Amino acid sequence: MWQPQLLLTLVACSVIVCGGSVAPSAGQLRRIWLQDHCNAGICTGVEISRNDYVILSQAPIAKQLMLTFINSSIAKIPHLMFDTFPDLQLLRMENCSLDTFEKPQFEGASNLMSLFLGYNRLKDIPKNIFLGADNLATLHLQNNLLKVLHNLSFHALKELKELSLAGNQLEQLPLGVFSGLRKLVDLNLAGNRLQALPRGIFDKNLNLTRINLAENRFVTFESELLKLQSHLMLLDISGNIMPELTLNFSLLEQAVAHSCDLRRVTVYGIVKDLDVHNNSLLDIPHIPVASNVTSLDISQNPLGNLQGNPFRRFTALMRLNLSSTNTQELAEGLFKKQTQLQMLDISANGIYSLKITMFDSLKALQYFYFQQNNWNCDFLQLLMSSFVKRRDISFMEDITAPELVDDYVDGIACWYESNKPSKKCDGGSTGNSDSALELSIVRNEIKAFTELVEKKFIKVYRMLDEMKLKL
Ligand SMILES: *[C@@H]1O[C@H](CO)[C@@H](O)[C@H](O)[C@H]1NC(C)=O
Ligand SMILES: *[C@@H]1O[C@H](CO)[C@@H](O)[C@H](O)[C@H]1NC(C)=O
Ligand SMILES: *[C@@H]1O[C@H](CO)[C@@H](O)[C@H](O)[C@H]1NC(C)=O
Ligand SMILES: *[C@@H]1O[C@H](CO)[C@@H](O)[C@H](O)[C@H]1NC(C)=O
Ligand SMILES: *[C@@H]1O[C@H](CO)[C@@H](O)[C@H](O)[C@H]1NC(C)=O
Ligand SMILES: *[C@@H]1O[C@H](CO)[C@@H](O)[C@H](O)[C@H]1NC(C)=O
Ligand SMILES: *[C@@H]1O[C@H](CO)[C@@H](O)[C@H](O)[C@H]1NC(C)=O
Ligand SMILES: *[C@@H]1O[C@H](CO)[C@@H](O)[C@H](O)[C@H]1NC(C)=O
Repeated sequence: MWQPQLLLTLVACSVIVCGGSVAPSAGQLRRIWLQDHCNAGICTGVEISRNDYVILSQAPIAKQLMLTFINSSIAKIPHLMFDTFPDLQLLRMENCSLDTFEKPQFEGASNLMSLFLGYNRLKDIPKNIFLGADNLATLHLQNNLLKVLHNLSFHALKELKELSLAGNQLEQLPLGVFSGLRKLVDLNLAGNRLQALPRGIFDKNLNLTRINLAENRFVTFESELLKLQSHLMLLDISGNIMPELTLNFSLLEQAVAHSCDLRRVTVYGIVKDLDVHNNSLLDIPHIPVASNVTSLDISQNPLGNLQGNPFRRFTALMRLNLSSTNTQELAEGLFKKQTQLQMLDISANGIYSLKITMFDSLKALQYFYFQQNNWNCDFLQLLMSSFVKRRDISFMEDITAPELVDDYVDGIACWYESNKPSKKCDGGSTGNSDSALELSIVRNEIKAFTELVEKKFIKVYRMLDEMKLKL
């Protein structure tokens, strides 16, 4: 709690002036009432510039556990912050234009557990700067301007569990930068410019279980880096452009590698949740120990019609996303082993019809997304009545109404066979897939033709305009 009688002293503080003092100048003592700006741990509109030497108070203020600065512009954390607030456990100075650290900065900060300094202008984490913050568990430095780190930047943070350096400009990291962080669990390096990491960089972080390397410039990933971590919860390397990815961990709960333009994915060891959507995969990931995979997202890949029986060993699968995979047909036995599947997404493909018997094995299905396909209306009706509605399975309607839709069945677009009398369904006739393909080709051709005609008209108009100009 803030004590109203508290008198804080700032030097050259540009906001809070008392005693009718003169205009601030560096080196001049100025007294301020900080409680005018802070209420219940929230401080607003506090401004401290780079050259200010700030003394907050002569006497310590006990029992203040948290401080959050909002809409403040603070070039640095005041020098005696932790002498003034010896009990401080959480300090949040995000978006404050912080650009530098005092030295020493964290003396007396042994109660500090969480420090949030994201969205500032920090360029450097000086060596040994965190000396004194020996109980810090969470440190967020995301969205600053960090370009380099030193071996000793995080020295003394032996209790640190969570570190975010996301959204900086880091190009490389020194080998020893994390070696003092023996308890590190969660490391976020996303959104930097890293191309490679030195071998052994995580060898002292045996409890590291969540690591985010997304949106960097890696062209390859080596599982070697994390060979000592026996149980990884999350590895995210999305948004790094690399032709292939091989993971080899004894136990990986969740691996995310979307938007990497991957052509090949191989996972040795156990992976439970694999998300490789938006890549260039022509085949489903190669996973020898597929029986432990519970979630697989291979949507937005040009897989085409799946050949053979690719899911036969994925016996524990609960979620499967095959949306936007350029699929026209699904083999009758494709989901034979997916008796535990709860969610299946085959939306945004060119599927016309299926064998209705293929759903017999999907005994646990609760969510089935199949909108945005090329459905034959008769088949769609059968699918709805004999499976989706009968089993009370959730589905999603088509959002946009395509121009050439013939009909909707429960909100899902479908088409009747052209030129042929619409025949009643005989248990889902996959024999029609050729005509389905033709139909979708014709539809696409019409679309392409329309676009072409439009382009030609634009060209003709432009030529006419040019001729007019010449005349
Ligand atoms: C911070 O600034 C924004 C925009 O100037 C304002 O809308 C908001 O109310 C301010 N927040 C506080 C807590 O003063
Ligand atoms: C930071 O502050 C600016 C202006 O006060 C605001 O527009 C912006 O959304 C804030 N960003 C974050 C991450 O809080
Ligand atoms: C950084 O630390 C690593 C390992 O802890 C060590 O091998 C290396 O020599 C150090 N580099 C510097 C510049 O201190
Ligand atoms: C790693 O985590 C385990 C279990 O959470 C814990 O017992 C162990 O002390 C941790 N090791 C370190 C170095 O923090
Ligand atoms: C996977 O890693 C283990 C141990 O790190 C190694 O023994 C094994 O040969 C690797 N497997 C492959 C296929 O590279
Ligand atoms: C898909 O991945 C590519 C990189 O291969 C990326 O440029 C694009 O932004 C991603 N698209 C989406 C919607 O994420
Ligand atoms: C992997 O699956 C097998 C059975 O298929 C099971 O016995 C084992 O516990 C699973 N391992 C993990 C780590 O889930
Ligand atoms: C399946 O993937 C698509 C495309 O990546 C995505 O839009 C959709 O939300 C996913 N489906 C589910 C049920 O998560």
